[in-house]
Amino acid sequence: MGPGRVLLLGTLFGALADVYLHHPRGSNNRLNEQSANRNNANRLFDSQNNNRGGYNVGDKTDQAFTGTGVETGSPTHANDRGQYALAFYEGSRLVVEWTNQHGCGGNEKTDPYKLNCNIVIQYTCDSDDTVRDPAMQVLLRDGRNTGTPDDAGNVGDITGKMAQNADKGHHESEAYYYECTRRERNKGLFLADQKPQQDAARFTRQNPNGNRNGLECPEERDYWPYWGPTPWIDIAVLTDTVEDCDRFFNYRGNSQNKALKGKCAFKNPDYTTGVNENTAARVLKSINRTLCESYPEATWATFTHNVDAPVCVAADWSRVNHLGNGRSPQPLTFNWTLPRLSALPSWVQEYSAAGAGAARYARCVLRLRYNISTDDYDPRNTNASQNDNPQNGVVSPVTNNPTINVSPKNAFNGLLALKLAINTNQFGRTFQDRSHVFMIKTRPPGLDANAEVWNLNVRGKRGNIVQTFPSVEYDFVPNQLTVTSRTYIHIQWTGSNTHNNGNPAGDGQAGDAGEGTTGTDRSNFVCSQNASVNYPTPFDTPVTALQDSCILQQSDCWATVPDQNGAQGAGSGPNLADFWGYSNTLTQLNAMDCALRLASSGYLPNLNAAQTKTPVLNPLLNNAYASLVGGVLLKVKTGECGTTARPRLYHYFCTRNNNFSNRSQKGVLICAE
Ligand SMILES: *[C@@H]1O[C@H](CO)[C@@H](O)[C@H](O)[C@H]1NC(C)=O
Ligand SMILES: *[C@@H]1O[C@H](CO)[C@@H](O)[C@H](O)[C@H]1NC(C)=O
Ligand SMILES: *[C@@H]1O[C@H](CO)[C@@H](O)[C@H](O)[C@H]1NC(C)=O
Ligand SMILES: *[C@@H]1O[C@H](CO)[C@@H](O)[C@H](O)[C@H]1NC(C)=O
Ligand SMILES: *[C@@H]1O[C@H](CO)[C@@H](O)[C@H](O)[C@H]1NC(C)=O
Ligand SMILES: *[C@@H]1O[C@H](CO)[C@@H](O)[C@H](O)[C@H]1NC(C)=O
Ligand SMILES: *[C@@H]1O[C@H](CO)[C@@H](O)[C@H](O)[C@H]1NC(C)=O
Repeated sequence: MGPGRVLLLGTLFGALADVYLHHPRGSNNRLNEQSANRNNANRLFDSQNNNRGGYNVGDKTDQAFTGTGVETGSPTHANDRGQYALAFYEGSRLVVEWTNQHGCGGNEKTDPYKLNCNIVIQYTCDSDDTVRDPAMQVLLRDGRNTGTPDDAGNVGDITGKMAQNADKGHHESEAYYYECTRRERNKGLFLADQKPQQDAARFTRQNPNGNRNGLECPEERDYWPYWGPTPWIDIAVLTDTVEDCDRFFNYRGNSQNKALKGKCAFKNPDYTTGVNENTAARVLKSINRTLCESYPEATWATFTHNVDAPVCVAADWSRVNHLGNGRSPQPLTFNWTLPRLSALPSWVQEYSAAGAGAARYARCVLRLRYNISTDDYDPRNTNASQNDNPQNGVVSPVTNNPTINVSPKNAFNGLLALKLAINTNQFGRTFQDRSHVFMIKTRPPGLDANAEVWNLNVRGKRGNIVQTFPSVEYDFVPNQLTVTSRTYIHIQWTGSNTHNNGNPAGDGQAGDAGEGTTGTDRSNFVCSQNASVNYPTPFDTPVTALQDSCILQQSDCWATVPDQNGAQGAGSGPNLADFWGYSNTLTQLNAMDCALRLASSGYLPNLNAAQTKTPVLNPLLNNAYASLVGGVLLKVKTGECGTTARPRLYHYFCTRNNNFSNRSQKGVLICAE
């Protein structure tokens, strides 16, 4: 199909409603657009979101990433050419935060819900060479431009993980999508009055025209747990029917984390050479095991990630028509304990940086789907037998924009006919967002394997509340975190230099109100006395003068990235060219150097740099880095924590983005033990 048509249809679908991942930053298919609208709704996945949502990929320095070419995933290139991927320690806690527009959660008896809903959170990572099946191979790329990766028109076009389109984003493999276009769609599914154009898994009730979005498989996108194998690993399902965790839909048991998912495959799993198109189409079509096994060259291949079942819990309540917080009122969050590298599926590629004691890491992407349906038909007991088929006397329980006779029973027909707004390809609908690439890396020596580590990051992009919508303004995530003197706090942020939020601005306002150079995200971390003031407190203000004092004076602090050339002298800083090539170490910093790093977003790594580095730090952080590369690790010193009755509050904020009465970027660490 022509790319023009794909784009047009994608844009039509994209004008409606939504789920937006705010932390880690969801792309909503953006990359580095200077416009409020994304360029290409079909880039990597089908979000069904508004074109304005999403965040650009992180830049490492004060310059927008440039350059072209392959991000090969090798240690020296995994994070190169100016982009920055957040690096989280294995086993650390990450606050996943999002907004969903149509609400979720409730209780049928006392707090009736207005829809059925489930939220599925997953991730995938680059695969290693043991994965011979090309459809299960993963090579993640954020991309260097906003183009849609090419698909494989026929079996001969499939080239390993993904050798083509080096500059385009990439999540699933070409073979994965190719198989989706050849695999028979599940004919047992309820379609209402939608007529998928063809019989392949590319065509679904929600996507009857089979539009392509990246290399995602539409049928896998719309249904979870999916019956076929996928490279997506389940983290959690948040549902309004917790009884489905283990019964009926059996989310925990049917997740590919545990369950075997089968497909008709070639006996030679690497079928991309020596198989002609007709044979490929015949074998890959079958979702029927008996039929599959009747083909001499085929086998029923099964796959499981063989990891823990996903978390399955009740979804927090959220309000309909409100792209905001939950009831608590706190943002909608799920706290993900990142897997240890040893607990990742065995097929995940562990990269090693160069040098002794180097970090090992996986490169991953987070995926969040928000799935809603109604009780106008029972999702458990409505199937293809109720697909609209008037010739055979079957009327779908829901039809497009019906005019309904609501006349009293004994009155004549047509007395009161009212039209409903129903779109059967969206009645039962799935929204989605995905993050940019991030890293899960080993802990360095000195950071105990069992120590509790919380990630403290920044969400948001430039602009005021109207300009950023449906994304959000800057804030720390989490902006309130309760810790003890045994908790490590891993402070790290990323931002873009091209968040100009210009035209085209689609359904909203263009503009990037904010401090400093237009289009640039910057953050820093300085102490304040309490949350209601907007002046920083010098980190070494005597404790007695303060109610709770500055955390940097009361904590241990470590740099997580060796400095340029290993030196601590003037002009040095975190190695920005290739920090993965360096060893995985912690360098203890004194409070002064720690404060300088955090206040300057890494530009001034120490006192010497502060005294001698040129050009000097711009007070609006314009020449500081968009990302705090590697991040800084903090831990409150023993004895400097309060008690539950009287916790110590350590306040901090960002000098650049905090603009009282317009925007606030403030946080607090609550230390109690
Ligand atoms: C969405 O909900 C429907 C109805 O319950 C279900 O059939 C489908 O598998 C779900 N899809 C996802 C992605 O959760
Ligand atoms: C699967 O294929 C076999 C062999 O062709 C056939 O007998 C059987 O009816 C099929 N099953 C389904 C559910 O279509
Ligand atoms: C389809 O739904 C009907 C009830 O609506 C049920 O009797 C039938 O068993 C279902 N078919 C399948 C294949 O689940
Ligand atoms: C996740 O952790 C944050 C920070 O501790 C907390 O504020 C939030 O309530 C947690 N979310 C859930 C769903 O427990
Ligand atoms: C604070 O934000 C407002 C609204 O965006 C802007 O007009 C003002 O210039 C900002 N203040 C500073 C000091 O930049
Ligand atoms: C915050 O600090 C200011 C300045 O010292 C002080 O006047 C104010 O009372 C404090 N507010 C709270 C809530 O502690
Ligand atoms: C907040 O924004 C308004 C304009 O919207 C501006 O007049 C005001 O000065 C801003 N506040 C600060 C602290 O800049």
